[in-house]
Amino acid sequence: MTPPRKLHIKSYGCQMNVYDAQRMVDTLAGEGFVETASADDADLVILNTCHIREKASEKVYSELGRLRVMKDEAARNGRQMNIAVAGCVAQAEGEEIIRRAPVVDVVVGPQSYHHLPQLLAKAKRDGRALETEFPVQDKFGFLPPPKPDAIRSRGISAFVTVQEGCDKFCTFCVVPYTRGAEVSRPVAKIIDDVTRLADHGVREITLIGQNVNAYHGDGPDGRAWPLGKLLHRLADIPGIARLRYSTSHPNDVDDSLIAAHRDLCELMPFVHLPVQSGSDRILSAMNRRHTAAEYHAVIDRFRAARQDIAFSSDFIVGFPGETEEDFSATLALVTQIGYAAAYSFKYSPRPGTPAADMPEMVSAGEMDERLERLQQLIDSQQSAFNLAAIGSTVDVLFERPARKEGQIVGRTAYLQPAHVMASPDIIGQIRPVSIESLERYSLLGRLASRPIASAPSAHSQISTGA
Ligand code: 5AD
Ligand code: SF4
Repeated sequence: MTPPRKLHIKSYGCQMNVYDAQRMVDTLAGEGFVETASADDADLVILNTCHIREKASEKVYSELGRLRVMKDEAARNGRQMNIAVAGCVAQAEGEEIIRRAPVVDVVVGPQSYHHLPQLLAKAKRDGRALETEFPVQDKFGFLPPPKPDAIRSRGISAFVTVQEGCDKFCTFCVVPYTRGAEVSRPVAKIIDDVTRLADHGVREITLIGQNVNAYHGDGPDGRAWPLGKLLHRLADIPGIARLRYSTSHPNDVDDSLIAAHRDLCELMPFVHLPVQSGSDRILSAMNRRHTAAEYHAVIDRFRAARQDIAFSSDFIVGFPGETEEDFSATLALVTQIGYAAAYSFKYSPRPGTPAADMPEMVSAGEMDERLERLQQLIDSQQSAFNLAAIGSTVDVLFERPARKEGQIVGRTAYLQPAHVMASPDIIGQIRPVSIESLERYSLLGRLASRPIASAPSAHSQISTGA
C-alpha cells in the first residue's frame, strides 16, 4: 500500500477561504491526501490567497520565497514537493504568478477547486497547470461533501457557503472580479450540509457569502428563497443551536431577514454590517448606493426587531478624495451607532478597480493618522461593550479546552471568547456563565446555575465583501 500523501493548506483572508480550504481537503482526500499541520513535510502545499488589500496579496510572494527553499531541500532529499496557489490572488494574477514564481506548479482560481486532481496530474505531465476560468457550471455541486471524520475534527462551529460572488461593484473592491457574479446555492443542498454537520455534533453554523444577504437560492417550492426564509428553515434542524451569517450589504437587508431576527432565538443578535464611511460624498464615490442616514435606518430596523442586537462593521480610511470633514463624518457615525467591534483598513488601490484610477490620493501620513484615530474610537467602544458584560450572566457555547489547564473556552452571542474552569463534558453545550472579569478581549467567569435561557448567543467574523 502506498502511504498517504501529505497536504498542507495555508489560508489567508476571509472565512470563505477557510471554508474553501476545507473543501479542497475533502476533494484531495479522494486522491489519497491527508492534511498535515506544517509545510515542511508536505507533498503538496496550497497557499489559499487573499487579494482584498495590497498587503494581503504581497504576502503570497514572500511565502513563495520561503517555500522555494523548502522545495529545494525536499528535492535534495529525493522527495517531491508540489506547490499550488489558490484563492483570489490566483484568480487575479494567475499569469503573473507563473512568471514571477517558477516554484509554483499549479495556479487555481476559486471557481475551479473541484478540478484540483486533474490540475495536479497536468502539472506532473506538463510541468505546470493554470485554471482561472469562471466555468458556467456550479462549482458547489462538484465539490464532495465532507467525510464524517473531517466533520468531527472541525468541532462545534462550522461555516457553510450559501452564496458566492458579488454584483455590487463598490469602486474599491476586487471581489466582483475575483469571485465573479452572485450565485446562490439551492436551499436543499444547504439543508443537506447543515443536517450532516448537525448529525456530527456541530451546534453553530455561520452561513457565509461575499454578500450573503443577497441570497436567493432555489427553494423546494420552486421559488427563490431569501436569506430570512432559509434561516427559518435551518433553525428547525435538530441540534442546531446557533445561526449566524456574514457578510452583508446594508441595501440587501430585507423584511425576511429582520423577521428572522425577531422570531428566531437561534439567530445570534450580532450582525456584521459594513458601512465603509460615514460621508455621503465618499459613499457615493465608493458606489455604495446608500447614504449614512439610510444606513442608520437599516440599523434602526434591526434594533426595533431585537433590542439586544449588536453590530460590527468595516471601514476604509483614506479613500481617494477623503477630506478631514469626510473623515469626521465617519467618526460621527461610529459614535452614533456604537459598535461591539469593527475592522478598519487603510485604502489600498487594487488594480482594475475604478477607484484605482481616481486622483486625489490621500497621503500615507494622513491615512496613518486617521486609521489611528478611528481604531482608538472603535477600541474604546469594544472595551465598553466587553466591560458591560461583567456582572451579568450570559449564554456561552463551549467549543474546546483553553490553553490554561482545566479551562474550557466558548463564545458568547457576540463572539466574545469566554473562559471557565470546568469539565470538558461541557464542550458542545450552551451554558449560562456569570462573567466576573475581562482579560484583554476574553471574558472570564464561572458556570452559573440559572437554567439555560431560550435566548441565544453568538456570530462569526469576517469577511471579504459587502
Ligand atoms: N482597500 C482597503 N480596504 C478594502 N476592503 C475591501 N477592499 C479594500 C481596499 N481596496 C475592506 C472593506 C471590506 C473588507 C472586507 O475589506 O472594508 O468590507
Ligand atoms: Fe461586493 Fe462587498 Fe466588495 Fe462592495 S465591498 S463589491 S458589496 S464584496
